[in-house]
Amino acid sequence: MTPAVADIRSICCIGAGYVGGPTMAVIADRCPQLQVTVVDLNAERIAAWNHDDLGRLPVYEPGLDAVVGRARGRNLHFSTAVDDAIAAADMVFLSVNTPTKSRGVGAGQASDLRWIEASARQVAAAASGHTIVVEKSTLPVRTAEAVKAILAAAQGDAGGSKTFSVLSNPEFLAEGTAIADLEAPDRVLIGGEDDQAIEALAAIYGHWVSGERILRTNLWSSELSKLTANAFLAQRISSINSIAALCEATGADVREVARAIGSDSRLGPKFLQAGPGFGGSCFQKDILNLVYLCRHYGLEEVARYWEQVVDLNTWQQQRIARKVVLSLFGTLTGKRLAVLGFAFKADTNDTRESPAIRICRDLLEEGAELAIVDPKVDAGQIAADLGQAPGPLGSTTGLVGVGEGTWAAAASPLEAARGADAVLILTEWQAYRHLDWSALAAVMRRPAWLFDARAVADAAAARAAGLTVWRVGEG
Ligand code: UDX
Ligand code: ADP
Repeated sequence: MTPAVADIRSICCIGAGYVGGPTMAVIADRCPQLQVTVVDLNAERIAAWNHDDLGRLPVYEPGLDAVVGRARGRNLHFSTAVDDAIAAADMVFLSVNTPTKSRGVGAGQASDLRWIEASARQVAAAASGHTIVVEKSTLPVRTAEAVKAILAAAQGDAGGSKTFSVLSNPEFLAEGTAIADLEAPDRVLIGGEDDQAIEALAAIYGHWVSGERILRTNLWSSELSKLTANAFLAQRISSINSIAALCEATGADVREVARAIGSDSRLGPKFLQAGPGFGGSCFQKDILNLVYLCRHYGLEEVARYWEQVVDLNTWQQQRIARKVVLSLFGTLTGKRLAVLGFAFKADTNDTRESPAIRICRDLLEEGAELAIVDPKVDAGQIAADLGQAPGPLGSTTGLVGVGEGTWAAAASPLEAARGADAVLILTEWQAYRHLDWSALAAVMRRPAWLFDARAVADAAAARAAGLTVWRVGEG
């Protein structure tokens, strides 16, 4: 028997990442009567979530520290005792990582479901009584079927008392605005077949989300809606980036075009910001999933249609690196570039699929010296992403060959700009809107360039300081 709504007292979330951590923090904050335990195999991550200093949580999100500060120790707990938390829970959220497979069947497109499968098996083994299992990770359509099959094998264990219901409840939060998105979501989507389980989850959200924003669908519609939402959003970015390239070629300005088309109420003004291409853990992965799914069902034209959104994104990143090289007389060997921003967007410390990674790698391949600065990304993360340890700048000479670039972390934009031929802005951090261009220009080598891939800098001030300015989408 599915427990009645009021019987949900304890919930557990497997996976203390960018989704699980903030989502559970907001649930605990809004539902003080619920005990919420977030578990993870990664002991270091759990220790960071339990850190006394709220400035050192493993995920940076504006407002997250305050929410965790209110709930942690009261009804929000972070632990590595996965089995204990599952056994105590009436509802278990699966919020583990689902990256694109790197090898085997579906490599490069299908999601790697090994973590989902492992966590479902753990739930099957450790659960007691009736447990509602909620898919939170973004998953390929029909993953719930696999989760159900694993749970079904344990159904009726423990003298018949062990039973399960599976729901899909995709998360639509965007990083950098996760807390605001969770506290005031456009909608909450719950897919499933067991009405009582659906209502039990709806009642949790009902503590702070109005009823008409809680949508109920079948399992597959819910899973597919998440992939579709991300595919449409990513498609808008590739669309505006394609037009940005045309603007540059023709003398139009993509911001003017975006404003003009965004005032059409059918199109709307959001997600029309041209830039270095989309990054983040979701967009590319979800589109590739969609492509894989279409091919699986023999829909080759549909697969190719969506694939193009990713191809254009890759092209946009390569195009920007090429633009830098060609502007700097076709060679970067022995030249220094200040790279401002490494996170995939502002207000997050996440670098997964960040456009900065591909762009910096391309520049390193050309022999550049990169001084990289980001307010929230540390040098260790940058080294892991670039696959290269930092080295001393100033060691390369005009004689060093292609593929031998170096990089070092800088503490500030001013430090990064010292001796640089160009400043390259890759993340739209607020601080980069108010840079002191006369101070930066004073420490750069002449002639000096600004490549603003986010169009956030004060271009007039940079020009007045003597820099040659390129902005994405400006002809
Ligand atoms: C996205 C979806 O927005 C969210 O609903 C889903 O749950 C997860 O994936 P996220 O990747 O965190 O969220 O951030 P988002 O704000 O969507 O940005 C994704 C990428 O697109 C970033 O690299 C961002 O810089 C880029 N972007 C976004 C643009 O280049 N232009 C825009 O106009 C908007
Ligand atoms: P997301 O952005 O989807 O939240 P993350 O990679 O940030 O993804 O977080 C996923 C978390 O799930 C990681 O911290 C990982 O250690 C954790 N995880 C994966 N598999 C398991 C498992 N079987 N049990 C507990 N934690 C797991």
